[in-house]
Order: sequence, then C-alpha cells, then structure tokens
Amino acid sequence: MFSNEVRTLWSLLRGQPAAPSHAARLQRFYAPQAGYYDRFRERLLSGRSELIAGLNLQDGERVLELGAGTGRNAEYYAALIPRLASVELVDLCPALLERARQRAARWPNVRVIEEDATEYQPAVRADCVYFSYSLTMIPDWSRAIDNALTALRPGGRLGVVDFYVADARPKTGLARHSRWTRTFWPWWFKHDGVHLSPRHLSYLRTHIKQSHLLEGMARIPYLPGLRVPYYLFIGTRA
Ligand SMILES: C[S@@+](CC[C@H](N)C(=O)[O-])C[C@H]1O[C@@H](n2cnc3c(N)ncnc32)[C@H](O)[C@@H]1O
Repeated sequence: MFSNEVRTLWSLLRGQPAAPSHAARLQRFYAPQAGYYDRFRERLLSGRSELIAGLNLQDGERVLELGAGTGRNAEYYAALIPRLASVELVDLCPALLERARQRAARWPNVRVIEEDATEYQPAVRADCVYFSYSLTMIPDWSRAIDNALTALRPGGRLGVVDFYVADARPKTGLARHSRWTRTFWPWWFKHDGVHLSPRHLSYLRTHIKQSHLLEGMARIPYLPGLRVPYYLFIGTRA
C-alpha cells in the first residue's frame, strides 16, 4: 500500500515524460500508476460526485464522458446505469481504459472507447456530456468543448469539474484569486501536463447557457494548508 503511494507520488513529481504524441505522453505518464490511480485521485479530485449529482441523470438517457480515465465516475451513478440507454466512456490512454473495461464489464450498456475527446462523436446525440478533470489535460480544450456541444442534443446538459485559476479581473459575482494563487498553481501542475487557466470557465460561460456554477478551494494530498481552486459548471445546450 505504502509503496503504491510512493510510486504514484514519484510519477506525479517526475511529470509527464517526453513522447512523440499527446496519446503517447498520456500512456507513459499513466501506465506506471494505473493500478493505484483511483485510490490517489479520491483525495485529489474534488467535486466529482457533486458534478454527477448536479447532472440529475434520468432513466433512458444517453451519457457520454470525455476523458473518462478508469471510469471511476460511473460508480457515482452505478445504481442508475441499468436504466440508462447508454454510457460511453472515451479516453486516449490505453492503460487507464483497461481499468475502465474491467470496471464496465458488469454493465452491457456501457462502452469504453479509445478516442480523442476533440473528435469522438456518438452515433446518437447524448442527453448529457461531462468532463471530469480532463479539460485541463487536453491541449486543444476549446475544440473538445465545441465537440462536446456537437455531441449533445438540444436541451442536453454539459457538466465540467476541474482545476482552474480566476481571471486577474473576474466578472462581477465570480471568485477572485490572489496573484500567488494565479501563478503558483499553473506552475505546480504544468509538469504533469495539467494546464490551469481562467479561459476554460470563461469559454464555457460564453458558449453554453449556465445553469449552475460553484467555485471552490480543494485540499491537495501532502500539501497541508494549501488549497487549489476548482470549479463545477453545468450548462444547458440551446
Ligand atoms: C485527471 S484524468 C481524469 C480521469 C477521470 N475523468 C476522472 O475523473 O477520474 C484526465 C484524463 O483525460 C484524458 N485525456 C487527456 N487528453 C485527452 C484527449 N485528447 N482525449 C481523450 N482523453 C484525454 C487522460 O488520458 C486522463 O484519463
């Protein structure tokens, strides 16, 4: 148990290794920690169960997660899955998808798909699409959001939970972060291929009608006293 924790911490401290493509970088980064991914991320990725609760999934709906990793989030709505029309879990990293396949084996209506979140389109438009801590890892994140909107039926919900930093001059009603917060956290996460930015939330707010927004500060394992900003956004497609 302790050695797994050390191995995961080592992967995070070492950062994303160089590789010829984004997919290869993800695989090299995640393969050594895939077996311990879920356990460590329980303490790192805040707001995931709240995102799923806020999406208010209903019987018969089609659900798509872009950047689904091990499929951990499906556990938050496991009881509902047999009554959903379909769940599609899309990711580019084979090591994490292998875990997702093991997890999803018990659900015949869940498909695990190795594809790029900026390109994948379902055969039938989804009622609900969500990103959970994946937008910050997708280099062409605005294309991923545009692609998610294309995948959604009119009236469908888009949910995002992720780390971010606020704009230096936030709009009225939005959270304000100190210069230290706006500098330190993007620097801290960058070497793991995680890019914190004010632009993700602002793009979401201008491209889809917001129905819910929470801006919070989350604990980080092994960094006592520090809090990293994260947001939870839910919007409805026109
Ligand atoms: C921090 S993990 C989050 C995984 C999962 N959503 C969760 O909440 O545990 C980010 C995920 O985004 C995936 N990812 C990054 N870029 C991607 C892309 N272009 N297309 C699909 N998945 C991508 C990574 O492989 C990784 O599984």
